[in-house]
Amino acid sequence: MLPMPKTLYTIERHILDQERKHPGATGELTRLLYDMALAGKIIADATTRAGLVNILGATESINSYGETQKKLDVFADDIIFKMNDHTERLCAMASEEHEDLIDIPTSFGTGKYVLLYDPLDGSSNIDVNVAVGTIFAIHRKITHGERGTLTDVLQKGRSLVAAGYMFYGPSTMMIYTTGQGVHGFTLDASIGEFILTHPNIRIPEPPLYYSANQGYEKYWTAGVRRFCKWLQGIDGEGHTPLSQRYIGSMIADFHRNLIEGGVFFYPGDMKVPDKPYGKLRLLFEAQALAFIAQQAGGYASDGLGDILDIQPHQLHQRVPVFIGNRAPVEMAEQFIAECDKDWIKAYREYRDRDPVLLGA
Ligand code: AHG
Ligand code: MN
Ligand code: MN
Repeated sequence: MLPMPKTLYTIERHILDQERKHPGATGELTRLLYDMALAGKIIADATTRAGLVNILGATESINSYGETQKKLDVFADDIIFKMNDHTERLCAMASEEHEDLIDIPTSFGTGKYVLLYDPLDGSSNIDVNVAVGTIFAIHRKITHGERGTLTDVLQKGRSLVAAGYMFYGPSTMMIYTTGQGVHGFTLDASIGEFILTHPNIRIPEPPLYYSANQGYEKYWTAGVRRFCKWLQGIDGEGHTPLSQRYIGSMIADFHRNLIEGGVFFYPGDMKVPDKPYGKLRLLFEAQALAFIAQQAGGYASDGLGDILDIQPHQLHQRVPVFIGNRAPVEMAEQFIAECDKDWIKAYREYRDRDPVLLGA
């Protein structure tokens, strides 16, 4: 006889229980989240077979950032789209892999939510069998027409209804929040169900790790360099150094820091003065993780203030990211305020542009 688990709390049961706390909930968000969990299972399966079934390697297509798309990126993007195009829960979608808003096919009806996603985060790691993930964020539709527009997508992170990620590591996990804490589930592959393993995640104190691509230190601003020295216990009061861990999949780096305590940063820099904003995408990566960090008691900043308060001005907007335990993220803001006046001016000019609402 196999041992009986103490509880068998599946993701479906959990999402339904959360829905019951919202009087007037229609169940649409519940089903949308459940569909994302199913998409995660399919992508996890493809990820583990990638080496065997020839979905590794680059396709011909180039995404909107000029990066060559990996086949698995295309597959994951397609799965999420197909899972959600016909459900009448969404008015539009937007993906890191598509230049424009993704319309719901006219053959299907629309609904009251918008889905934003990075189908495969850390895709440069696929060929070397290192963990990758999927990030998603859900807004409520705010315009009145039947179909969604850019206005529905270009909302502050503060307005998110839900966000989460699937993490394809040694185990597959799904982490999500609907604004009532952060909850983590691990896929039991033998029964194909996500089981609640990490209820009510709080980012622990003190932070133990920092994660950044220190190979680019040459391009960092003086404030970011001082911040990194502070993390190492060199600049400032000389505390015990944090350990450095950098995988190069934001999801994997963020997840470690969420569970163990730590800070991830991908700063802006002045390498190209008219591009002071770093690499990460506000709508497909940063907003979702900022919401999760906030719900876990942490904080996410662009170096000046809360990422959740940034009014996006374009679909593929980039943003510097400092995310994890609140204290180190606030230290980053402090060092930047003291040392990086030129960078702040250049970055503010970019960040505070008027929204491009073509077709809105
Ligand atoms: P994506 O694979 O979706 O393009 O994202 C990759 C991102 C992020 O996951 C990671 O933290 C960062 O790029 C790594 O960039 P560097 O190689 O410049 O460190
Ligand atoms: Mn990504
Ligand atoms: Mn990606």
